[in-house]
Amino acid sequence: MKIHQSIFSIMLALTAMAALSWEPAMSAPSILTKSFGKTSEGSDAHLYVLQNTKGAKVSITDFGATIVAIEVPDREGKLADVVLGYDSLKGYETGTSYFGGLIGRYGNRIGGAKFALDGQTYLLAKNDGQNSLHGGKRGFNKVVWTAHERPSKEGQALELTYVSKDGEEGYPGNLSVRVLYTWTDRNELRVQYFAHTDKATVVNLTNHSYFNLAGDPQKNILGHMVRLEAPQFTPVDNGLIPTGELRNVEGTPFDFRKPVAIGKRIADSDEQLKLGKGYDHNWVLASGAGLKLAAHVVEPATGRVLEIRTTEPGIQFYSGNFLDGKAVGKNGSVLAYRTGFCMETQHFPDSPNHANFPSTTLQPGENYRSQTVYRFETE
Ligand code: GLA
Repeated sequence: MKIHQSIFSIMLALTAMAALSWEPAMSAPSILTKSFGKTSEGSDAHLYVLQNTKGAKVSITDFGATIVAIEVPDREGKLADVVLGYDSLKGYETGTSYFGGLIGRYGNRIGGAKFALDGQTYLLAKNDGQNSLHGGKRGFNKVVWTAHERPSKEGQALELTYVSKDGEEGYPGNLSVRVLYTWTDRNELRVQYFAHTDKATVVNLTNHSYFNLAGDPQKNILGHMVRLEAPQFTPVDNGLIPTGELRNVEGTPFDFRKPVAIGKRIADSDEQLKLGKGYDHNWVLASGAGLKLAAHVVEPATGRVLEIRTTEPGIQFYSGNFLDGKAVGKNGSVLAYRTGFCMETQHFPDSPNHANFPSTTLQPGENYRSQTVYRFETE
């Protein structure tokens, strides 16, 4: 009897131990963290590699809350990195193309680099002709964020926070910003932005990844088939500032309601294409609440598909027209003309100066929330 009892209790203990040792394997393992060097100001930067159970990976650095790499399979299951970027921190610190960066406080342009809010005029740096672009001289993509891993049932999740001081880059109000990146087993990168302010301000946050779904930065992106759920776009002037008009895409090279190759009409003789030097415009997404389909992009040779859903009302589709081969990317690659395209989910450019556009004003006590999901599939 005694022997039986002790065998029984040993078995119980073994079962309990087995259960315990299983536990860590059931929840997502912690995010692989590596050093990403020191900034020129002496701050440590890190690289966080989020991996899902399929082996697909997203690498993010706390420098600029930047997406450095997204490694996803083609239709044969072969993993490749589908975003442009640099090998080292220095590239991100000195680069001028915003590769993978979190853009703020105001993504895209503000005309004349000024806006008025509550009767006061705010002056911003003119870093794009007469206009302000992507947050100014030192936007959110050029500062070091504070990173924390966050437990999530959906997959590995990284939270990054940054406090932009009142007056930073000319914007009013201390703005506390938080972004949560979650990498799921369905190869979805969920990006959730949160912010609050202590003074009325303007906010427009986005991510500036350049995609090349072929996974080969030497190839241009003109063969990618793009579909945009957008009946209108916002035409621009020669400084890429919206005129204020919402124009129907019907009958123009801006109609992507059915899939069209990026290169098909990019050289058409069209005033807006000339002003944009190709596609570099804001599309007005079909209205709807919550996360709605914005873009669906297919790379026919590899079968990789990117589907973007967002809570934002617009998307800037930019065909990499300013890439000129001068910058050196990952593995010594040349970042040549139109080798990456951006899909920046956003409020419309220059909204602070257009009362007819959805408002980008954030008041004290209000919560800024925005969400975009990038889903990678194959067909
Ligand atoms: C945005 C702009 C482009 C260009 C790139 C960065 O997408 O709309 O005009 O400035 O950023 O090079």
